[in-house]
Amino acid sequence: MSEPTIKRAGEVLRLDQVRKAFNVGTPLETEVLHGIDLSLCRGELAALIGPSGSGKSTLLNLIGLLDAPSSGELYLLGQATRDSDDEARTRLRNQVIGFVFQFHHLISAFSVLENVLMPLMIRHGKPSSADIELARGLLDEVGLSAFADKKPTQISGGQQQRVAIARALVTRPPLLLADEPTGNLDTRTAQSVFELFHRINAQFGCAVLVVTHDPRLAADCARTIQLVDGLVVSDEANPSSR
Ligand SMILES: Nc1ncnc2c1ncn2[C@@H]1O[C@H](COP(=O)(O)OP(=O)(O)OP(=O)(O)O)[C@@H](O)[C@H]1O
Ligand SMILES: [Mg+2]
Repeated sequence: MSEPTIKRAGEVLRLDQVRKAFNVGTPLETEVLHGIDLSLCRGELAALIGPSGSGKSTLLNLIGLLDAPSSGELYLLGQATRDSDDEARTRLRNQVIGFVFQFHHLISAFSVLENVLMPLMIRHGKPSSADIELARGLLDEVGLSAFADKKPTQISGGQQQRVAIARALVTRPPLLLADEPTGNLDTRTAQSVFELFHRINAQFGCAVLVVTHDPRLAADCARTIQLVDGLVVSDEANPSSR
């Protein structure tokens, strides 16, 4: 048995010996995460790096409650999630998590502003004037207030990704997860999206966990967690980060 991880003050996320296997009970059963211990506190900005197939997306999907561990426990804001039913998991996900994917998944029929409002509309239907004000404020924050009425197809890839970030933040989540959000972007645009993560992290104090393949973008984050073959092989503060 491993030692239980020590709880830190302001913990948003904690994983205790989290394992994930796919195709359980079949000849194809494979375990891809082999006992992950991890914690993330309010205001931390951490990069998650590792080779293709090391389990980064699998881990992010578990943390985002899009999938469930095979064993171990995952706490969000101190709340254990293993035994929660679907309804409780959905509620907790909506309260705690903002998720940004590699592909922005904006809805092309809706305007930029409506896309940002979507999580609030899913939560409580027609947006209030306060909701609209909040969404417009976030669009301003990501430098896109002039594009509120455009459709996602009318703006660039970097702008689409910034809309997706504004959408992930509209519920004011204490934890922002981003899975290779800059994987599709050129270097300069990727840099500006990361700038935005740094600014959001400093301004709103939300914890950010971001997957990247770019060592320079990772080195600029305060902490880098490295995954290899489903294990955390290093978890270090970056002396060169801002
Ligand atoms: N639904 C699934 N069923 C079976 N195996 C899966 C499933 N999802 C992921 N895997 C396997 O788990 C391993 C980890 O995959 P994962 O997508 O988490 O890697 P990753 O680190 O995100 O890679 P990349 O950098 O290429 O995105 C891989 O071997 C993958 O084939
Ligand atoms: Mg991945």
